This record gives sequence, structure tokens and C-alpha cells, in this order.
Amino acid sequence: MKLSFQNLSKVKFTAKNHIFKESQVLNDISFKIEEKEIFAVIGPSGSGKTTLLRLVNRLEEPTGGDILLDGKSILKMEVFKLRRKIGMVFQVPALFLGTVEENLFYGLTLRKINREDGQIRIKKYLSYLEIDEEILSRDINTLSLGQQQRISILRTIILEPEVILMDEPTSSLDPSNTNLILSLIKELNQKLGITIIYVTHLMEQAKILSHRSLVLINGEKVEEGETEKIFSSPAKQETRDFIFGKLVNF
Ligand SMILES: Nc1ncnc2c1ncn2[C@@H]1O[C@H](COP(=O)(O)OP(=O)(O)OP(=O)(O)O)[C@@H](O)[C@H]1O
Ligand SMILES: [Mg+2]
Repeated sequence: MKLSFQNLSKVKFTAKNHIFKESQVLNDISFKIEEKEIFAVIGPSGSGKTTLLRLVNRLEEPTGGDILLDGKSILKMEVFKLRRKIGMVFQVPALFLGTVEENLFYGLTLRKINREDGQIRIKKYLSYLEIDEEILSRDINTLSLGQQQRISILRTIILEPEVILMDEPTSSLDPSNTNLILSLIKELNQKLGITIIYVTHLMEQAKILSHRSLVLINGEKVEEGETEKIFSSPAKQETRDFIFGKLVNF
């Protein structure tokens, strides 16, 4: 599934002391994501990364431009159909209290997938990801944060989306859990061919994971291209400042 971002803009309004302020969160952004690639969106805090991701599954609507999915405008698709193709993993695990199995079945039931087929799917992906089936009966609150985040990812995958949006999914994890999640993401891409859009402000993660990247600073596209090239010979001064830590990431 290819994605084409065309002149995408987003203006947000904030009200403080009854005074409205307009801010251009994304400004005329165009780039493409190829099928089956891991594409990183990198940039400092407040640069518009989360907003960009939220536009893809229409948690927010753009104020200008469009996103095409295999040539079709997402703005003309029904939102529930769009979200069948596009799954999302958030910064912190998005699970409810209950067992792992209950959490996994939630989305399957919404899609009217019967119990038997659901169980087959769950087992298939547990074995893909080399997670022991005994985890199914565990209560969510007995799992570590890293395990919870892996289950959140699993919950997204069993719905078999074509694209997965990930917004800094390791930000609440320690280094060893972070590594587990990063290798899981690589595996998903290699074994299942899922296109992944990975938002991060950590350059190391973009380097390890992604084929290509977009550098976003202050809502502007600064650079787009092969991740390796961006890091080895950045074309723009802003990218250099960001990579070499001169841009404050507060
Ligand atoms: N609901 C909102 N109303 C007004 N402005 C907002 C809103 N949400 C975000 N912003 C502003 O939009 C800009 C981009 O925010 P966004 O959350 O997309 O950045 P980000 O790159 O994801 O940052 P971080 O790395 O901290 O998660 C920021 O300046 C932020 O203050
Ligand atoms: Mg963000």
C-alpha cells in the first residue's frame, strides 16, 4: 500500500484568555511512502510529528492538501474502512483491565470475526512473534510495561492492517524492552510486509529501523530520503543541527 502526502497543511487554534491564536502546525508537506517500507518521521518536540500521524487515520482532518492511499483520497473514504487498512500503536500501551485474550478479542469481535477464526489468528501471530501462548490467560496488570506494549502491537497486528502508524512506541520502556520492540517491528515488516510509519525524536531508532525518513522541523519538511544518506550527509543545515544536537529537544 503506497501513501502519497500532497501539500498537507494543518492550522490549529488555541484560546488563551479569550484570545484566539492560530498556529501553522504543518505547512505544505509533500512526500511519498513506498509499499512495505519502514518510514521514519523524525524531528524535535513540537515539530508536528504526532499531528501528521493523526491525519493519516483521520483522528484529525487537514486544513489543506490530501493523503492518497494507493491513489485514492483518504478524505473521500469512510473512516471505518480507512481504519481497517491502517492500525495505530500509541506511546503508552492502550489496553483495558482484563486478560490478554479479552484484549485481543475486542477488536476481532468488533469486526465480527468468530471465536474460532479469532483463536486461529491469535495463535498464528503469537507464534510469528515467538510469544508463549500461556500469556493469553494473564491479567494485563500482571504484565510488565514492555510486555503490555508487545500485546498492544499484537492487538493491532491480528486485525491485519496494511499500514501501522507508530507514535514513539518505546518512550515509556527501558533499554532492553525497547530493543525487544524494535526487533519486533523489524520482524513485522520483514515477515509480513507491513508498511510502518514510525514517529520518533530519537535518531538512533530511525537509523536502526527505517529505510527512508522525513525530517520535520517546526511543521516544515526539511528533508526526505534514504535514512542512511540523511545521517551520513545531511543536505540541510537544520538537519545537521538536529542530528548533532544543536536543536534543543525540550
Ligand atoms: N490541540 C491542539 N491545539 C493547538 N495546538 C496544538 C494542539 N496539539 C498540538 N498543538 C501544537 O502543534 C504543534 C505540533 O504538535 P505535535 O504534538 O504534533 O508535535 P510532536 O512533533 O509530536 O511533538 P512531541 O515530540 O513532543 O510529541 C506544537 O506546537 C503543539 O503545541
Ligand atoms: Mg508527538
